[in-house]
Amino acid sequence: MLTMDDIIRDGHPTLRKIAEEVPMPPSDEDKQILASLLEYVVNSQNNETAEKYGLRPGIGLAAPQINVAKRMIAVHVTDDKDKLYSYALFNPKIISHSVEKAYLKAGEGCLSVDESFPGFVPRYARVTVKGYDIDGKEVKIRLKGLPSICFQHEIDHLNGIMFYDHIDKANPFRNIEGAIEIDR
Ligand code: NI
Repeated sequence: MLTMDDIIRDGHPTLRKIAEEVPMPPSDEDKQILASLLEYVVNSQNNETAEKYGLRPGIGLAAPQINVAKRMIAVHVTDDKDKLYSYALFNPKIISHSVEKAYLKAGEGCLSVDESFPGFVPRYARVTVKGYDIDGKEVKIRLKGLPSICFQHEIDHLNGIMFYDHIDKANPFRNIEGAIEIDR
């Protein structure tokens, strides 16, 4: 199982690489890596397991964060109606998005970033993501709210983008015109 020792930190060159597409159908090795990403986020949200292994809680993890420059992400997050979005995807891609923007009131964090970067991170309010599940089956997911933000954050990792890249350096809490504020 993955622990914080497997997660590379800000400044590591892999975090700035464009990750490679994963050939479909997936190999057993790639399936195992994908499963380990989801296992980490699930374990990290279980108080007992998190404490036992010193896991920092997270709602998403991307393969580059464990120094694997391949297009894989895992997300395990609930929306404001407590609906669970638990996905492990190969080659996730945003195929459409709203014009409207959204941001988390509390800002974003990242398991690869130990310091805090306060500020609003503008994202699309709604996205449709296409990807492939662990069996190589195509999935299409419509997202809004926190799950939408989380998918966009993880897909950014596959393109070498960190959340703080999106923060306005001169004025981190500048009003984002017409954007939805997500308060959780
Ligand atoms: Ni991150």
